[in-house]
Amino acid sequence: MDLGLTGRVALVLAASKGLGRATATALAAEGADVAIGARDAATLEATAEAIRTQTGRRVLAVPVDVTNAEQSRAIVNATLREFGRLDVLVNNCGGPPFGAFDDFDDAAWQRAFELSLLSTVRMTRLALPHLPRDGHGRVINVISYSVETFVPGSILSTALRSGVVGMTRLLADELGPHGITVNNVAPGVILTDRVRQIGGEHLADTVPMRRMGRPDEFASVVAFLASERASYVSGATIPIDGGASRAIG
Ligand SMILES: NC(=O)c1ccc[n+]([C@@H]2O[C@H](COP(=O)([O-])OP(=O)(O)OC[C@H]3O[C@@H](n4cnc5c(N)ncnc54)[C@H](OP(=O)(O)O)[C@@H]3O)[C@@H](O)[C@H]2O)c1
Repeated sequence: MDLGLTGRVALVLAASKGLGRATATALAAEGADVAIGARDAATLEATAEAIRTQTGRRVLAVPVDVTNAEQSRAIVNATLREFGRLDVLVNNCGGPPFGAFDDFDDAAWQRAFELSLLSTVRMTRLALPHLPRDGHGRVINVISYSVETFVPGSILSTALRSGVVGMTRLLADELGPHGITVNNVAPGVILTDRVRQIGGEHLADTVPMRRMGRPDEFASVVAFLASERASYVSGATIPIDGGASRAIG
């Protein structure tokens, strides 16, 4: 199936590692030019070079902290300067810490808000005026399967990402008439550095498929949503979790 992404331009945030990197790689492999952002410049540039070598596409690396408004504006502008257009925005960020309700004070909630919700709001606002209004504009938010199922300790992530789900519903309604789709992807347990850091490998046993997902399995779904082929999917939250969310209704 030709996804029709050749010649499109995608901006993928938090893309030096893990799910963001896999997403940028998949989009480039399908023929898109990509701009990628993350905080550590050296890791980011090494990732950009690896994607160029693997796919032969143009890859722009722009260091960005997605909680920083000025840097967020700068990466959108740099993408437009380099490629002259922007078709696909993939909002991604690092995950907030795990813990119990009692562990988090106002400052922790404020940080989580800026990372997991405000960054998505702001980046979308910055990108929207430039997305095509011919049916090809795409906003895709990386959230978590914790919006569908109980994940112990995920109180910051779940509270804020549920806000992204709500925002996506409303935004899909506003942007539908303009031919722009807005969707969420909700990863379950996908083997990345983050999962290794929180020692999450044992969770594989709780997944119906009895294994963790691979970043490329996650990225294939994002590439589909970014593509022409997903032109009638909007306002959705798509689990990519081997069946782990087990949501009914
Ligand atoms: N993997 C899973 O199974 C899973 C499950 C549910 C939800 N998620 C969510 O999916 C997202 C990606 O997870 P991952 O597993 O791919 O994590 P990862 O392997 O740790 O990669 C995180 C990426 O985000 C970048 N990043 C972190 N904070 C950033 C910031 N403030 N601004 C810009 N870039 C930032 C990191 O680079 P720098 O540190 O250099 O900035 C890195 O490129 C997270 O929000 C995570 O909570 C993942």
